[in-house]
Amino acid sequence: MHEDIDWTALRYTAVNASKNSYSPYSNFSVGCAALVDDGRIVSGCNVENASYGLTLCAECNMLGELFATGGGKLIAFICVNAFEEVIMPCGRCRQLLQEHASKSFIIETPKGMATMEDILPLAFNSEDLD
Ligand code: THU
Repeated sequence: MHEDIDWTALRYTAVNASKNSYSPYSNFSVGCAALVDDGRIVSGCNVENASYGLTLCAECNMLGELFATGGGKLIAFICVNAFEEVIMPCGRCRQLLQEHASKSFIIETPKGMATMEDILPLAFNSEDLD
C-alpha cells in the first residue's frame, strides 16, 4: 500500500499551498498535504493573525478542507517550509492529525518515513473517553 503513495504529488501540493501562506508576523510559510483514503489530496497553509495566538497552523486548515470536501482518513502526510524543506508538525498538530489518521498513516520527516506512533507515542485519543 505505501508503495502506491505518490510522494512527489504530495510534496508538490504542499509546496504550492505554502506559497499561499499568510504569515506576515513570523515570515515562516508552511504548507502541508495529505493523501486521503479515497484518493483525494487535501492541503493547507498557515494563516496568522495580529493577535499572534490565534494563528492557524497549516494542518488545521488542511483538516478544514478534509471535512469540507467529504471527510475520510489520512493515509500519508507531508509538511514543508518556504525552502521546500520537510518539517515536522508541531505538537498540537500531531494531536489533530492522529484524530484523523488511518491505521497505515505515514509521514515524511526530515529523518525519513515515520508512523503516527513514532511521532506521537502513547497518544490521548477517543478510546480514552470510553
Ligand atoms: N506552523 C504551522 O503552520 N504548522 C506547524 O506544525 C508548525 C508551525 C506555523 C505557525 C506559524 O504561522 C509559523 O509556522 C511559525 O511558527
